[in-house]
Amino acid sequence: MIKKIILILFISFSFLFANTKYKVNPDTKLIIDENSHLVEANCLACHSSELIINMRASKQAWLAAIRWMQESEGLWEILVDDEEKILNYLTKYYGEKYDTRRRIPLVLIEK
Ligand code: HEC
Repeated sequence: MIKKIILILFISFSFLFANTKYKVNPDTKLIIDENSHLVEANCLACHSSELIINMRASKQAWLAAIRWMQESEGLWEILVDDEEKILNYLTKYYGEKYDTRRRIPLVLIEK
């Protein structure tokens, strides 16, 4: 009985921690931090946050995406300071998932 209670407590605590890692804005689905309002103000006029959440890119690739939208999709100029904050936000929460190969090259495994 005691063991069960401890187990249940443990499981509920782990959910608690999993949920408190980042808070998500229920309206925009974007992670909330001190710069998320900039992303919400500049990035959701034409499409939902789904495109952003699924992108997972390096800072360089995020910048390229922004420049592409500015050149051909009508995205406005963003103040340099704000753009830097937006890029840091995007790379922090929606950056590349892996910064290395996920496995070592096959040639090394097969030897
Ligand atoms: C003026 C309109 C507009 C604004 C504002 C805008 N975008 Fe976009 N964005 C687009 C269009 C159009 C597409 C292409 C959608 C499609 O492929 O259907 C797009 C696509 C994307 C994609 C997908 C790129 C890909 O390669 O699939 C991402 C990621 C993205 N936008 C992020 C952002 C971010 C971050 C911001 C804010 C800095 C932003 N967008 C602001 C118009 C906009």
